Amino acid sequence: MFASGLLSSDEAEVFWSQPVPDLAHAVRSAQSVAEVAPGRHDLARAALLHDVGKRLSGTGIIRRSTATALSLVRLPTPQRMTSYLEHGRLGAEELEALGCEDLVVQFARHHHGIKPAHIATDDWGVLLEADAE
Ligand SMILES: [Fe+2]
Ligand SMILES: [Fe+2]
Repeated sequence: MFASGLLSSDEAEVFWSQPVPDLAHAVRSAQSVAEVAPGRHDLARAALLHDVGKRLSGTGIIRRSTATALSLVRLPTPQRMTSYLEHGRLGAEELEALGCEDLVVQFARHHHGIKPAHIATDDWGVLLEADAE
């Protein structure tokens, strides 16, 4: 399968432990990258792995939507929702511990925030467009 060929066995274990909707989003994102930037396995890997932190919160679609809405109006969120809102940081820490390359870690950490200065603007744009899939 497309995703498996891009991941180490440890990364694949994390990847495949995601809920099905998150897996589908990750694969769509990586396929989008492959269409726009063929051969850029680093970008495809970043797209595949960017949301792995979501699974750590154990939240479904309703809690995720509620967490996002509460954060937008700056209201406090329960712990599981807070964990969902921090999925970028949590995923990045996990990917860093697995030895993933900087681009993969940085996109996981900052994909809902600001591009790190050392990451190419074009690469970041490809990843953000893929994340919108
Ligand atoms: Fe995300
Ligand atoms: Fe995403």
